[in-house]
Amino acid sequence: MANVIVIGAQWGDEGKGKITDLLSRSANVVVRYQGGVNAGHTIVVNNQTFILHLIPSGILYPDTECIIGCGTVIDPQILIEELDQLEKLNISTRNLLISETAHVTMPYHRLIDSASEERRGNQKIGTTGRGIGPTYADKSERIGIRMLDLMDPIGLREQLEWTINYKNVILEKLYNLPPLNTQEVIEQYLGYAERLRPYVVDTSLKIYDAVLRRRNILFEGAQGTLLDLDHGTYPYVTSSNPVAGGACVGTGLGPTMIDRVIGVSKAYTTRVGEGPFPTELDGKVGELLCDRGAEFGTTTGRKRRCGWFDAVIGRYAARINGMDCVAITKLDVLDELEEIKVCVAYEIDGERCDNFPSSARQFARCRPIYKTMPGWQVSTSDCRTLEDLPVAALDYLKFLAELIQVPIAIVSLGASRDQTIIVEDPIHGPKRGLLHPSGTPTTLLSA
Ligand code: GDP
Ligand code: IMO
Ligand code: MG
Repeated sequence: MANVIVIGAQWGDEGKGKITDLLSRSANVVVRYQGGVNAGHTIVVNNQTFILHLIPSGILYPDTECIIGCGTVIDPQILIEELDQLEKLNISTRNLLISETAHVTMPYHRLIDSASEERRGNQKIGTTGRGIGPTYADKSERIGIRMLDLMDPIGLREQLEWTINYKNVILEKLYNLPPLNTQEVIEQYLGYAERLRPYVVDTSLKIYDAVLRRRNILFEGAQGTLLDLDHGTYPYVTSSNPVAGGACVGTGLGPTMIDRVIGVSKAYTTRVGEGPFPTELDGKVGELLCDRGAEFGTTTGRKRRCGWFDAVIGRYAARINGMDCVAITKLDVLDELEEIKVCVAYEIDGERCDNFPSSARQFARCRPIYKTMPGWQVSTSDCRTLEDLPVAALDYLKFLAELIQVPIAIVSLGASRDQTIIVEDPIHGPKRGLLHPSGTPTTLLSA
């Protein structure tokens, strides 16, 4: 097969878990490359729902190796809870490996995340409060704790005595919070270390070895393109690189070994947390999308903001990630609508703008230019081929493909594995590449 990256093409929660699980059927290795327990990926199999925060969505396949790469940040407490839950459900975690150079989320990271959000007041980011930003900040500041540090009891004591001392000054003086008990934290984390020790290895070697053995590797992104630290709606972003380029940095695999990038996008748009969102809907239609799409955060339970599909960010995600094809999810959520709008471009101060602006201030001033499409008003959740779809739904998909200039390989019509149309093989089908003709809408949808 190929080494394939699956990324979120919007603001996260696009259905990456479902699509990764689906594609894991033909993968030997599934790798998470960034983010931490801010992610919540849902997989539904035989009416059973699995929510994964850190463990790759390939874990439900008994022979698939799952790797948590060096670009992730690991909260050991939540990871251990996740391992326990899977084992309780008789899902083996023996094929899981964790990078020894991934950074560890500590209690002070969580405390500082929440306290700094509170301090920001109306400037807050709306983080998940899981300590993600502070963990990555310590990585950049070069005072982070890595998994290999956690595995070395003597070194860990030395390192944490200094670090907790330093963090306690911040907690007490800056945030008026009680200090952490250094010895308690050390003992707690040494306990976590013993539980996780069997999984911790040099994962970059394992991944390279898999490449040499021509294993099929799937790289599972967390969050989404517009939450990317460098390419998203900064400062309303996460602290890692969910874009396809992040997969190389976050695993230690060279870019020449990546064959393909698959974007995942909802048939509409959602966002959790603060930040501009041009196509956001406040009224009845927004409520309907939220209800039908069950748009509540998998990690924090927060209500997701809902809006129409935005082709400007779709085109942007296609470019930034070099998307070869796209999986459109949650088409069924639109089933009841009489008409559906699609944002084809923005307008800023009376001028048309076809490209995503870098400044969040400017982005906040973008007004969507909509094209209105007729709805189909019949259920699509039992459709299994393109021919089963109502004509209006097919036209809608063709229009999206044409707007973002990326072929649609998968259409998802429900949370479970079988509620899916495979339009063309997303892994072996034709690549978009740089020279792909712009094509007619039909060729973009069905090759
Ligand atoms: P992820 O973070 O990208 O993996 O997405 P989440 O799991 O956070 O959110 C996607 C939600 O939509 C989950 O509850 C999925 O079970 C659900 N879902 C995925 N695909 C579809 C679909 O095609 N239709 C519907 N109705 N739900 C879907
Ligand atoms: P998955 O992988 C949706 C958002 C938060 C906030 C911003 C920064 O399930 O798609 P952070 O805690 O990362 O510092 O918060 O990013 N966010 C997500 N939104 N899905 C996610 O993950 C997210 N992970 C973080 O809501 O706006
Ligand atoms: Mg999610």
